[in-house]
Amino acid sequence: MHKIIIDCDTGTDDAIALVAALNSPDIDLRAITTVSGNVDLCYTAPNSLNLARMLGFPVKVAKGAPQPILRDLHKIRLMDADEAGGLPTHGQTGMGDVVLPECGEPFYEKNAVETIWEEAQACGGELEIVAVGPLTNIAHALMVYPRLKEGLIKKISFMGGAAYGGNTTAVAEFNILCDPEAARIVLRSGIPLVMVGLDVTEKAAVPDEDCEIIRWMGTKDAVLVADILDFMRMRRDEFGGEDTLMHDALALAAAVLPGVVSGHDYYVDVECAGEYTFGHTYVQKDHRLTNSAPNCWVAEEVDMKCFMDWLKGCLEQSKNR
Ligand code: BDR
Ligand code: CA
Repeated sequence: MHKIIIDCDTGTDDAIALVAALNSPDIDLRAITTVSGNVDLCYTAPNSLNLARMLGFPVKVAKGAPQPILRDLHKIRLMDADEAGGLPTHGQTGMGDVVLPECGEPFYEKNAVETIWEEAQACGGELEIVAVGPLTNIAHALMVYPRLKEGLIKKISFMGGAAYGGNTTAVAEFNILCDPEAARIVLRSGIPLVMVGLDVTEKAAVPDEDCEIIRWMGTKDAVLVADILDFMRMRRDEFGGEDTLMHDALALAAAVLPGVVSGHDYYVDVECAGEYTFGHTYVQKDHRLTNSAPNCWVAEEVDMKCFMDWLKGCLEQSKNR
């Protein structure tokens, strides 16, 4: 059983990762910590809490950082907004056109940093973090509690970056671009890292026939996922926006499902100073610019059948509740 905290900026594809995690028989979801990213924290935190409660899960949901360490999130988001003909990638609230019922319950009494620290101690070196938004909360936690770097976190799997290209600038992926300084702190932490970047997530679109299969499952959980997928298909078909890409669910799968992605260890760092290249993840492959040892396992290929079987399997579990 993987003891996991998901740190997220929910977010359409974040929401699908949450539904999968809540239902997975292999995951003990210790907490959900939330951060600004796709939309502001005033949406990402309630989206996460309302989603969990709507599906009947009492998991801790903690609020985290409202802003990146240095960057202006709103400017970064504007770089992304044009991509779908003016439609924000995740809609105005982060959930596309899905409206979650207000649960009226409070957030966990501790903030994201304190929650990570609490769970790291409780899990005795077994805690894994799956970070699918900007890495702000994780960086804050490592700065406030440096002992986290001394064996208290087993692994951080993050959705972010790319060895090649970007989706928000030509060379930068959205999560890393939002908070490159935070990403650098994480990449230099010495904690075992798994990077699930655009190299694999841009190949991870849910086929239309699987969208229908998921809807037919008929549970609240599956219907929610199907509704989010319908928004993504509308975004693709009517606005020329992003496809049904499972960026964040693939990062979660990579943490718990052997073989869903394959890759190699590389030295990875983030460009924080470049005028046009900030947010770029430098993945040292053939052209060696430093002698630095590998610090990150980077996913390079994805087995989509394996991923879709896993995602549908998680959703099937919701029939048993
Ligand atoms: C990442 O940015 C967000 O739009 C998604 O939720 C994902 O985490 C992809 O670049
Ligand atoms: Ca995300």
